[in-house]
Formats: sequence, structure tokens, C-alpha cells
Amino acid sequence: MKDKASLPPIPFVDLVRQYRQISQEIKEAVSSVLERGDFILGEDVGEFEKEFALFNQAPHCVGVADGTDALYLALVALGIGQGDEVIVPSHTYIASALAISNCGAKPVFVDCDPTYYTVNPTEIEKALTSRTKAIMPVHLYGQPADMDPILEIAKRRKLYVVEDTAQAHGATYKGKICGTMGDVGCFSFYPGKNLGAYGDGGAVVTKSFELSEKIRLLRNYGQKVKYVHTIKGLNSRLDTIQAAILRIKLKHLALWNRKRVEAAARYSEVLKRSRLGLPLTADYGKPVWHLYVVQTTDRGGLQKKLNDAGVSHGIHYPIPVHLQQAYRDLGHKRGDFPVTEHLAERIISLPIFPEITAEEIGRVGRAVDASLA
Ligand SMILES: Cc1ncc(COP(=O)(O)O)c(C=O)c1O
Repeated sequence: MKDKASLPPIPFVDLVRQYRQISQEIKEAVSSVLERGDFILGEDVGEFEKEFALFNQAPHCVGVADGTDALYLALVALGIGQGDEVIVPSHTYIASALAISNCGAKPVFVDCDPTYYTVNPTEIEKALTSRTKAIMPVHLYGQPADMDPILEIAKRRKLYVVEDTAQAHGATYKGKICGTMGDVGCFSFYPGKNLGAYGDGGAVVTKSFELSEKIRLLRNYGQKVKYVHTIKGLNSRLDTIQAAILRIKLKHLALWNRKRVEAAARYSEVLKRSRLGLPLTADYGKPVWHLYVVQTTDRGGLQKKLNDAGVSHGIHYPIPVHLQQAYRDLGHKRGDFPVTEHLAERIISLPIFPEITAEEIGRVGRAVDASLA
């Protein structure tokens, strides 16, 4: 056995390892865009939109510049803006909230479920006001949010549901694909996502033809016909080269998601005797393990041991959104969302990606044991 010092580091995500498996297909796809020269809203964008709609069993898909814009454009297309409130968990990436504030509406933060880390439907109920226009559940870490109670509240109060599916491509809730249960599902193709481009990218999926057409207009300066602008839009198009790359990677997504599920199961086995709080899966969902997040009472100690063993790791997320300086205007204070705040101090994300080996997961497990020794 090699001595510890000579073992290669374990990256948090290894995009190069994955690229090496598909490099030939990628080069051909990129090269055909270069040969055609259709860089803006080219053939691959339309084809990817059809294929990603099919993958999600959704009638419509519109490619946009990134996941933040997918959320933003969805909200704008739904007519949400100044004076409106959108309920969103504080335990998420800040982009969920930014999309709401960027369209002039107010993000109303709520706490999350302590076991599954996704938005707590009971807290949503308490946060409703006459100004609430939408709920934005986030399928965080690839774990589906508990959608039935959310959809029930939305139906009763006539609210829109905008699913933040940036971390959950292909996850399911009671057999339904995440991103297809609400009015609109918003995806990010940031490189490290389960389906990642080699740059920024995003998409919305929806059952509504009208909504898809509105987003199509908005993403392209409000024009359907060149130089004829029917609404005030912006430039937020999915790049053709990224769409060509995403078409290749989409063919592998189901397999890559299965490998993430296997990696997560292996982690749970390897770590079962540790004192870490391991992620649990609700009966209602089939997660796709964008992240494998554990809880510890000694994060500093665990980080040191992981660093010593050459294991990269992350914290998703160290400062809850309601306590970010960017949102100080909302007047939140520590204690407002105790579950989120408690988690922010204890969570740590271990390396997970489809190509991670059993040997690497074993090494992470041994590093964790060492932290408890
Ligand atoms: C939960 C969540 N929402 C939204 C986004 C925004 O996506 P993007 O980085 O593509 O703008 C991300 C990813 O960064 C995310 O993790």
C-alpha cells in the first residue's frame, strides 16, 4: 500500500476526469458549431431544448444564459415584480433569492426541514401574506423538496410555483420529475452541476406554451422577428457551443446520476459507524446527489483531517442568505431561522462526482475516522 503522502489528492469535483471519457464526442460537437458558424441561437440550441424537454417529460424548454436568469426570467414572465413577495428557503444558494430581488420583488425567507434540508412547508404557510405571489422551492443538494404540501398551498392561495432545480437534474418526487410539478422549473448548467456545460448555461421547462414563448421573447431582447421588439427583454441566450456540449453530456446524464447514487450509498456505508450526521432520503423522493452533505459538531477538526489527507471539501452554505450583508435591508437577525443557522455551522460537503472511485470514498472514510480518533 502506498504511504499517505504519496497518494494523489481527492478533488471535490473532477471535470477533467469526465472530459477525458467524452473528449472525442465533445470535440466533434464543438467543431461542427465552428464549421457552421451559427454561434447565436444556432441549431444545437433548438435541438438541446427539444432533448432536454424530452428528458424531463416537459412540453417546453427554453435555453437561457445561466440558472440565475432562468429563475429571473421565469418570475418576470409570470408578471412578478415590485410590491410582490416570493417565498424562498434561506438555506439555498444566494442566486435563488437574487432572482427574486432582481425582478423588483421581495424574497420572503423561510426555514428548512432539519432532516432533509429542503424548505419546510409548515414555515411557508406561516409566511404567506396578501402580497405573496409565488413559492420557490429549491431541490437542494439534488434532494427533492416536499412538493405535495407546497402545491396544495399554491393551489389554495392561487400562487405560482417556480422550482429551483439548479442542483437536481433528473431527481424525482413520487415519480414526478423535479422541475415539472410547478408552473416552471429552472435549471443551471454551471460546470459542476449534474448536467454541466463548459461555461455558463441555464434552461426553463414548463407545461405552458404561453410562458415558454414569453421567456423566449424576453431572453432575446423582446424580439421574435429581428429588430421588431414587442416587449422589453434582455440578452440571456444559451450559447450554441454550450448547447452542443450539453447535448453530448445529456446522453450520459442518467448513467452519471446512477453513479452518484452509488457513490452516496457507498459513503453512507463507509461512514455508518462515524459520529457524523449522514444525509437521509425521504420516502417520497429519488435524489440525484449533487452534493453529499454531512453534519459534524467539530467542523474545524474534520476540515483539518480532510486537508491532511488531501481530501477537498466544501460548505454549502456557510452564511445563510437571510444573514448575508446583501440582504441586510430586510432586517433579519441571527435566530430568525434556527434550523438553517444551526446547519450552516455544522454542514460539510464531501467530494462526490460520477467518476469518484470506491477507493477514493474509502480514503475519505478513513480520513473521517482519523478525525474522531
Ligand atoms: C440552488 C441554485 N439556484 C440557482 C443557481 C444559479 O445558477 P447559475 O450559477 O447557473 O446562475 C445555482 C447555482 O449556482 C444553485 O445552486
